Amino acid sequence: STTAIIVVAAGSGTRLGAGAPKALVDIDGRTVLRHALDGVFAAAPMQVVVVAPAGFEQAAADALLDADRDRGRRASVVVGGETRQESVAAGLAALHPEIEVVLVHDAARALTPASQIDAVAGAVNSEVGVIPALPVVDTLKQVSGGEVVGPVDRSLLAAAQTPQGFPRQPLLAAYERAARAGDEHTDDAALFAAAGGTVRSIPGSERAFKITTPADLEHARMLVGGPMP
Ligand code: C5P
Repeated sequence: STTAIIVVAAGSGTRLGAGAPKALVDIDGRTVLRHALDGVFAAAPMQVVVVAPAGFEQAAADALLDADRDRGRRASVVVGGETRQESVAAGLAALHPEIEVVLVHDAARALTPASQIDAVAGAVNSEVGVIPALPVVDTLKQVSGGEVVGPVDRSLLAAAQTPQGFPRQPLLAAYERAARAGDEHTDDAALFAAAGGTVRSIPGSERAFKITTPADLEHARMLVGGPMP
C-alpha cells in the first residue's frame, strides 16, 4: 500500500485530568491509543506511525504490538513535540519513501470506525485533501465579553474530525511552509489550505468524537460496554 497513517498520541491530556497522557488512559482494560489502533488495524493495510509522548515510547510500542497481531504492517513509534503540529511533523519524518497518501489521525478519537479511515483514504487524490465532518447540532451564538452579539448560521458550519487525508508531497510542502513562517494551525486541513491546497469533506461519524473531558471518557466507556469507574 502507498498509504500511511500518522496517529498522534503525544498530547498531555490536561483537560482530562487523568494524571497520565490521554492516549494512555484506560477505557475498558484497553487504553485510548490501543482502541485507536484497533480501528487502524481493522482498516485496509497501510504504514502506521504512532507519535508518542516523550517517556512513553515503550507503552506506545506495546499498544502497537498488541493491536498488530499478524505483524503484517510497516509500523513504528516516534516521539512527539510541544504542539500537535510538531507531533505531526515528527510523524511525517518517518514516512516510507513510497508513501503517496498520508492520513493524520488523533489517537483521542479512539472509537473512530475503520470504515471512516478507509473512506478518507479512498477519497484523497493527488489534488485534494479530505476531512470527515459532521453537521453542527448545537445552536451557536457569537458572544463577546459575556454578551450575545448575534446568531450563527450553522448550516454553513461543520465539525471537523480525523483522520484527515492528503497527498504526500503537497502536505510536506505545506508543513515546511508553516514551519518557515512560524504559523500554528488548528488542524492539518487548515495548514494544507493555508498553502493553497483544496480540501473536501465527507460525512464523519458520531463514534469518531474526540475524548477530551472526563464526560467524554465516560461516554467512550459506555459505548465499549466496559465497567464504569
Ligand atoms: O489536545 P487534543 O485532544 O485536541 O489533541 C488532539 C490529538 O493530538 C490527541 O490525540 C493528542 O494526543 C495529539 N497531540 C500530540 N502532540 C501534542 C498535542 C496533541 O500528538 N503536542
